[in-house]
Amino acid sequence: METAKAVKARDSFTTGLGVIAATLGSAVGLGNIWKFPALTGLNGGAAFIIVYLLSTLMAGLPVMIAELMLGRRSKSDALTTFRVLHPKRETWSLIGAAGVLSAFLILAFYTEVAGWVFAYIFKAASGSILSADPKVTSAAFEKLIADPVQSVFWQCAVIVFVGAIIVMGVAKGIEKTTKRLMPVLFLILVMIGVRSLMLPGAAQGLDFLFRPDFSKVTGAVVLTAMGLAFFKLSVGMGTMITYGSYFRDDQNVPMTALRVMLADLTVSILAGIAIFPAVFTFGFKPEAGPSLLFITIPAVFSQMPFGNVFVVLFFVLGAIAATGAMLSIMEVPVAYLHQRFGVSRFKATAATGILLALIGSTAALSNSVLANFKLFGMTMFDLYDFLTSNLLMPVGGLFICIFVGWVWGEQKVRGALSNDGRLQNSAVISIFFFLVKYVAPITIGVILLRGLKII
Ligand code: PHE
Repeated sequence: METAKAVKARDSFTTGLGVIAATLGSAVGLGNIWKFPALTGLNGGAAFIIVYLLSTLMAGLPVMIAELMLGRRSKSDALTTFRVLHPKRETWSLIGAAGVLSAFLILAFYTEVAGWVFAYIFKAASGSILSADPKVTSAAFEKLIADPVQSVFWQCAVIVFVGAIIVMGVAKGIEKTTKRLMPVLFLILVMIGVRSLMLPGAAQGLDFLFRPDFSKVTGAVVLTAMGLAFFKLSVGMGTMITYGSYFRDDQNVPMTALRVMLADLTVSILAGIAIFPAVFTFGFKPEAGPSLLFITIPAVFSQMPFGNVFVVLFFVLGAIAATGAMLSIMEVPVAYLHQRFGVSRFKATAATGILLALIGSTAALSNSVLANFKLFGMTMFDLYDFLTSNLLMPVGGLFICIFVGWVWGEQKVRGALSNDGRLQNSAVISIFFFLVKYVAPITIGVILLRGLKII
């Protein structure tokens, strides 16, 4: 019953470049241009970036390699992977089940923010959100998010758009789309970065981005930084297991993960360089938080020559980044439904999309109809974000490390990461295994317990 109708020749990524584009497309997203600048601005600039980097090296990257490796070995979705690799104990597949749950919760708020980004492309093009006065841009943003009809409309539009690409398949949909879009994204980002560096506030912006202030770093901030590390690399919830299952057998997994991590970091830093000099030049506060993107950016750009063009470009960039990421999140439940129950990709996507629209609307409406509906003091939007980044993904990552380091074991890891002896990378594997067995689980465990004030 494992694979109800034996899945025929499995759809997968076709070229080495395609693998990188799709995996990087998953990592790069709203995390780089919305979360990273907002959290950096709120939590003390460079100090936060350093903690984020350390969490990436000690936890995020090892989990990413582990996930890609497991997926490629099992050639299965996030849930089935654990059944295939450890048939004696069904409980390990709970990691995959938690991943499917996380996928829905992340998409619930992610598709909403993406909806704002898509809406802003049109609003920027028509000029309706451009004003040098932050009061005007913030009123425009408030108007959008407080309008239940527009919020739900843009979210559903995004779900249909992403679903349509997913239906086309792994190679023809995901790989092709990301391969085309990723270079465009880099190009736009570099252009905006260069433009921003020519502003008079550039030095101040860079100073903020690169000079650490550790006084703001508390246990909760460290947890936020680690949560960002997981969110950024799309790990701890099955996306990288699912994508790993589409990897070719000759792909060098540790090197691919390292490259993607470095490229993703470059995009985040470039986004910081694009945003902070502009913020300081025009007298905004870096602590604006999540609204930084929607309130500050239009105001900042409207004051620069050719700003109206750059602001449209900026939101196009956001839409591209968000699309690659959403494809990879949605692929988690779709791959599971497709493989486990043998339903077509179309049906699997339709079912996922409908359920998502239902859950997502509770996030979309959390600035209007459901503004007063709170759990643990958070709106549904904030709750889904907090639950996934600060709890589900790190816990998922922790169990993946335990599975790989303590259950699956060194011998199998060596076989899988050396492509069964075809790669001469035993030193790299030794470092990885040490990280995944000891360093990552301890780091994740301690940060979780401290961040949630349990110790
Ligand atoms: N990495 C993506 C981003 O930064 C978000 C993401 C999370 C994608 C989890 C896949 C899985 O926007």
